[in-house]
Amino acid sequence: MNVYLETYGCQMNVSDSEVVRAVLANAGYSLSSVIDEADVVLLNTCAIRENAYRKIYGRLDTLRPLRKKMQTERGRFVVGLLGCMAQNMKEAMFRHPVVNLVVGPDNYRALPELISKVSKTGQKKAQREIDADLSEYETYQGIDPKRFDGVNAWVTVMRGCDNFCTFCVVPYTRGRERSRSLDDVLCEVRALAAQGFRQVTLLGQNVNSYHAKGVSFADLITAVADVPGVERVRFTSPHPKDFPESLLEAIAVHPNICNHIHLPLQSGSDRILELMNRTYTQDEFIRLAKKIRRMIPDVTLTTDIIVGFPTETEADHQDTLTTMQSVEFDSAYIFKYSERKGTIASKKFPDDVKAEVKTRRIVQLFDAQHEISLMRNQSRIGLTLPVLIEGESDKRPGFQMGKSDGNTTVIFPETSHHPGEIIPIEITDVTTATLLGHFLPKPVFITL
Ligand code: 5AD
Ligand code: SF4
Repeated sequence: MNVYLETYGCQMNVSDSEVVRAVLANAGYSLSSVIDEADVVLLNTCAIRENAYRKIYGRLDTLRPLRKKMQTERGRFVVGLLGCMAQNMKEAMFRHPVVNLVVGPDNYRALPELISKVSKTGQKKAQREIDADLSEYETYQGIDPKRFDGVNAWVTVMRGCDNFCTFCVVPYTRGRERSRSLDDVLCEVRALAAQGFRQVTLLGQNVNSYHAKGVSFADLITAVADVPGVERVRFTSPHPKDFPESLLEAIAVHPNICNHIHLPLQSGSDRILELMNRTYTQDEFIRLAKKIRRMIPDVTLTTDIIVGFPTETEADHQDTLTTMQSVEFDSAYIFKYSERKGTIASKKFPDDVKAEVKTRRIVQLFDAQHEISLMRNQSRIGLTLPVLIEGESDKRPGFQMGKSDGNTTVIFPETSHHPGEIIPIEITDVTTATLLGHFLPKPVFITL
């Protein structure tokens, strides 16, 4: 049978989809990139905000005609919902008429069996299957993910989240924290380096909470950086509570651990931070950011911010704005608060900030961040940065694109170099999100 898989949401889902492909390929399924040829359509879904749900319901609606056609022609068609929305909604997903399979993020080993059950032909009643039980142990150990990208490899080192930020659905869709052993991770990274991957990105819902048999995240990232052939190491997504000095030192000292830290602020107001259960104050956050900039001077700092959390006042909003201006993030993902069923906030605090107030505040934060991003990028004009080439630029024909050590997109006129190579690019111009430059060949020294 042919399986077509679509991935929504964060990098964890991208990484999980690589596990799903491996599980299915090992069981003899073939993977199709053309939906019309598929007997099985799987959507790996996200639950983080309401618009993630809306996107999936819209997509499911578009599958109605295909389902009808396939049912008539082949007598079977499977539409399976995987990932966080599947875990959160469970049986309720069967209310959508095209869905006949629901599988949560810890249950992918069971996929081949579940698919074969729902695709049995000749049954009177449409078959439905669900497996959405969270596990305390599942890390997909022993499954070799089927990767496509040839430059960067996502390596999941821990799963789950125990923080219970009050706005967040992740502890419910991904379950409790669990870490893989250092040996397992190193074994995978050595194989990736041998396959030619130049960059490894360590992944986890709370990646820097990683701990396994006395091994801390600082120990892990150092060991990964020491694997021969690994040119760049990144990590995402961390929590500000887990940045001990040893981790900052590891980043500062190892040239191949990238100088980019994503430091999700969420809010700059102490009152809102407390209601969010973020476990730090504005002052503690700013001190941490300053310490990071002191220890890693050329660091790129990025963040996540939520506007319009319940009870947020104009004064709370101004605290967020001043924190952004004080830290000067290189870039920020800014979201309107979206109430998620089952979270602590949804039970304790009504979603009482009006839609138009959320819109006004988000626009204000976007504008402020644009100015800061532009200023941070302008400070790089004239520098020559090592850039890892990822491929051709989608936006500008005749240009290649890659990433700086700080993870900023860099575009430059096409060179004879290939994806995976790191080359020096002199930065000549910038926008809020992109650095522009040209390849600076090494000077040739002629000795007489
Ligand atoms: N509403 C809006 N944004 C949210 N995020 C997480 N939960 C919500 C929510 N309920 C944002 C946070 C997080 C990022 C991945 O998504 O900023 O860091
Ligand atoms: Fe979305 Fe979070 Fe699930 Fe990733 S882990 S897919 S961001 S809900």
